[in-house]
Amino acid sequence: MHTAARPDDVLLDIQALDVAYGKAQVVHGLSLQVRKGEFVVILGRNGAGKSSLLHAVSGLIPKQAGQVHFKGQDISNATPRHIVRQGLVQVLEGHRVFHHLSVQDNLLIGTYANAPAGDRSKLDAIYAMFPELADRKQQMASRLSGGQQQILAVAQGVIAEPALLILDEPSSGLAPLVIDRILDVASQLCTQGMSILLVEQLVDKALRHAHYAYLMETGRIAGAGFADDLRDSDLLQRVYLGGHGPAKTEAA
Ligand SMILES: Nc1ncnc2c1ncn2[C@@H]1O[C@H](COP(=O)(O)OP(=O)(O)OP(=O)(O)O)[C@@H](O)[C@H]1O
Ligand SMILES: [Mg+2]
Repeated sequence: MHTAARPDDVLLDIQALDVAYGKAQVVHGLSLQVRKGEFVVILGRNGAGKSSLLHAVSGLIPKQAGQVHFKGQDISNATPRHIVRQGLVQVLEGHRVFHHLSVQDNLLIGTYANAPAGDRSKLDAIYAMFPELADRKQQMASRLSGGQQQILAVAQGVIAEPALLILDEPSSGLAPLVIDRILDVASQLCTQGMSILLVEQLVDKALRHAHYAYLMETGRIAGAGFADDLRDSDLLQRVYLGGHGPAKTEAA
């Protein structure tokens, strides 16, 4: 899906971000932007620092240096709660849901940022998008399969109707057809005005859905470009093949 130019309106602006765990710096002076209505993917090998970057943006771990602006506001030192309320919602890697709550209650928690008492009016649309959840509304999340929990985690982000939805490897543990459905949902939300920032190991699928891609290598941006232009690029080959075995690509 190639667009001639990126949209003008910058929604998320990360500038010169450093992230470290103790003395181990894992993100180095990283800058990246997501614009309004854009579907951006970050690609990179295991350990490149993708999740650390996202956690720092969402306020879940500290930033050592750099700035993050969202909707023009400086959120560099904001709390996770404030950031969510501004409309930046991250679906964490590894299907994190509330195990002791039902599917429906997990979804209602997703609406709390906009409606502290929970907004039931959004449920039907979500159940239409994710029928496997509609069949299990009252089931405890702990009794869902790993894949179903992953779908629930994504649905909990979608129901929040954020301005920016960040998805950290939503494909993990899911069957190929379900992955396609989740990426299709993300594309569809994007056409309705939501921006998407996706981290994904499935390079081909990600580049088929995204408008723009950043390639991350050892905590830095190794390159960026329109998804269509990157697909067969030498850069993509280098980031993934750089002497450590094949990229995790998949059949079409
Ligand atoms: N809580 C932590 N404490 C210390 N080091 C960490 C912590 N979390 C991650 N790291 C280290 O930071 C580096 C980047 O990890 P990160 O999880 O951000 O990578 P990633 O790109 O998301 O990888 P993956 O694709 O496997 O999810 C790795 O070297 C990792 O070992
Ligand atoms: Mg990760």
